[in-house]
Amino acid sequence: MESLLCCPVCTAPLDREAKVYTCPNRHGFDRAKEGYVHLLPANQMHSRNPGDDREMAAARTRFLSGGYYAPLLRALETLTLTHTRQAPAVLDSGCGEGYYTAGLYETLSTAGRGPRMVGVDLSKMALRRAARRVHEVEFAVASVYHLPVAARSVDLVLNCFSPLALDQFRRVLKPGGTFLYVVPAAEHLWQLKQVLYDHPYRNPEENIPYEGFSYETVVPVETVLQVPGPDLMDLFHMTPYCWKTPKAGIERLTALDGLTVKAAFRIHVFRRGED
Ligand SMILES: C[S@@+](CC[C@H](N)C(=O)[O-])C[C@H]1O[C@@H](n2cnc3c(N)ncnc32)[C@H](O)[C@@H]1O
Ligand SMILES: [Zn+2]
Repeated sequence: MESLLCCPVCTAPLDREAKVYTCPNRHGFDRAKEGYVHLLPANQMHSRNPGDDREMAAARTRFLSGGYYAPLLRALETLTLTHTRQAPAVLDSGCGEGYYTAGLYETLSTAGRGPRMVGVDLSKMALRRAARRVHEVEFAVASVYHLPVAARSVDLVLNCFSPLALDQFRRVLKPGGTFLYVVPAAEHLWQLKQVLYDHPYRNPEENIPYEGFSYETVVPVETVLQVPGPDLMDLFHMTPYCWKTPKAGIERLTALDGLTVKAAFRIHVFRRGED
């Protein structure tokens, strides 16, 4: 079956079979039992188990499955429907556990668009969950800085809270293709930061004109979450704060029964220019 993925050894298009991906030059890559494929060359593996670890992936899966970020998913679905046509090829770069990947796939399918989709992430643990969540989407363990995807093959790239690999996004997008870039707004999780830090700071909000792209628009998405205690720890573990919070802050958070917290996102919508 035709695949959106390319061979990480020779860059030829891969063919997807039930248990293996192969290229015309006889390079082969086994599919894991969940269906995802490992395409990360050994020299790009920065540690034994790169990407988010098992606990972070589990926490994010639980939290997102609770529907807290559904308003962001709805906004991404609307934008994806607006900016793609029939049979779109869509890449979720740094897709994690595939919450948004699966949501976009379902929306495009239900609308009769017949999408082809691929999710890429460094974390095997995350992709295991993603591949179980949606079988019709291809998932590959790879770095976003070396996307195993052909040049000019994708109609829309989604990057939600994951590393920005602009050169790669520009390479894989078709001219005129759309890039959705989700970043935290100034007051994203502000009340959580107030618990964790003595001097919390607001995220900077900036519109950067990236070379090779034109700005279409920025779509703000805001929601107020009522988060009970256990879910609060999951939320904490899926943020970058879990690496850099003083012990006192973590103790203050653990002592809470729950918290009302604002989630605020900005979806930057870019169009890839012609060459
Ligand atoms: C904050 S999570 C966001 C996941 C997903 N987009 C979401 O919003 O639920 C960031 C993801 O980027 C992945 N990641 C980090 N560095 C990466 C890289 N160089 N290449 C591919 N994925 C990477 C992590 O493994 C993690 O799954
Ligand atoms: Zn090959």
